[in-house]
Amino acid sequence: MIKHVRDLYLNKFYKEPKHIYFSPGRVNIIGEHTDYTGGLVMPFCIDKGIYGAIEKIEDLRINIYSENYTILGIIEIDLLDLPEKLENNFSDYLVGVIRELNKNNYKLKQGYNIVLTSNLPIGGGLSSSAALSLLLLRMLNDFENFNLSDLTIVKMAKSVENNYLKVNCGIMDQFAIMFSKENRAIYLDTFDLTYDYVNLDFKDYELVIINSNTTRKLADSKYNERQAETKEILAILNENMKVDHLGELEEKELSTYLDFIVNETLRKRLKHIITENARVKHAKVALELNNLYHLGDLLNASHKSLKDDYEVSTAILDDLVDIAIKSGALGSRMVGGGFGGSTLNLVLKDNLESFIEKFKEEYHKRYDTNFVYSILQAKDGIKQID
Ligand code: GLA
Repeated sequence: MIKHVRDLYLNKFYKEPKHIYFSPGRVNIIGEHTDYTGGLVMPFCIDKGIYGAIEKIEDLRINIYSENYTILGIIEIDLLDLPEKLENNFSDYLVGVIRELNKNNYKLKQGYNIVLTSNLPIGGGLSSSAALSLLLLRMLNDFENFNLSDLTIVKMAKSVENNYLKVNCGIMDQFAIMFSKENRAIYLDTFDLTYDYVNLDFKDYELVIINSNTTRKLADSKYNERQAETKEILAILNENMKVDHLGELEEKELSTYLDFIVNETLRKRLKHIITENARVKHAKVALELNNLYHLGDLLNASHKSLKDDYEVSTAILDDLVDIAIKSGALGSRMVGGGFGGSTLNLVLKDNLESFIEKFKEEYHKRYDTNFVYSILQAKDGIKQID
C-alpha cells in the first residue's frame, strides 16, 4: 500500500511525497449514541482506513486529490481565500480543518500537495469522516510544527464536524482513531475522557462486520435530531432534579426518570441512553471474563434498543441482524450512527465457516445483491507509516 500511495502521488504531482500517514476506521463494540450524552463507549480501530501522502510546496495553496473521487480531479484550495460554502465533497473536511486551525491561531505558513486513498467503505458506519479530518489535522500539525497534543487534535477534529460539517457528533470516533491500540478496545467515559483498555484476544471468537451497502440517506439530519432530543430530555430532567449529563443516570432509577417525561418519543430515547450505558459496563466485564454468550446477549439487546427505542436502524440492518442470529452468531447489532451502514457480529471461532455459509444462503434467499463482510482485527490508531 505504501508503494501504491507513493506512485499515486508521483503520478499526480510528478515528485515524491515526503511522508505517508494512515488513519484507520473504527468499530464500536457497544455504547451507540451515548457519546454526545457523556456516556460510555467501547470502540477499536480496524486495519482499513485512509492513506495520505503529503509534501510541502512553494505556493500558499493546497492541492488535494483523492483516488476515491477521481472524477473531482485535483482540488485547489487557496489558503488566502478559503471557499465560503460547503462543496459537499471531501474537500469540505480540508477547508474545515484549515478554518479550525485558523480559529485557534494556527496559520499555515506554507502550501501542500496531498493525495488520499481509502479502503474504508464510505458511509459504512466505520467513521470514514473522522478518519479524514484526523488525518489532515495530524499531517498539517507535523509539517507546520504546531505541537498540538493528541487530545487537542481529537477535539479539533470533532469541532470540524460540529462547526463546519454541521454534524453534532460526539467524540468517540476521533478519540478511537487517535488512541486505539492493537488487540485492545478503548473503554471511554465521554464525559471526562478518562479511559482504559479492554483486551480483545480473538482466541475463541471473531468479530465480523457486514456492510449493508446502503447509503445513509438523511443520516446527518436524523442524527442531529436525536442529539437535540437528548438535550431536551436533559432540560426536562433539570426542571425536577440536578443532572449534569445523561451519562450519569443509573439504570436502577430508570422508572423515576421516566416519570418526569411525558412525551412518548423522548421516553423511548431516554430508555435507550440509560440502558445502553449500563450495557457497556456489563460488556466490559463479559469481555474480561470471556463470557461470550453474555456479550452476545448484550449486543442483541443493544440492537433491539437502537431499533425500537432510539429508532436509528433500517429494515435492511434489521434483516442482517436476523440472518446473523439464524446463522449462529452469538450476537449482532447495527454499528455507528445508523440509517444504513454495517452490522457487527460476534461469532464463535469454531463456527465461523458455517456462519458465513449459512449467512450467504439465507441472504441470497432474500436479496439478489452481494454483501461485503470482513473479519476484524483490532489495530493501532492513526500513525505516520513512511
Ligand atoms: C457517529 C458519530 C459518533 C457516535 C455514533 C453513534 O459515528 O460520529 O460520535 O455518536 O455515530 O454511537
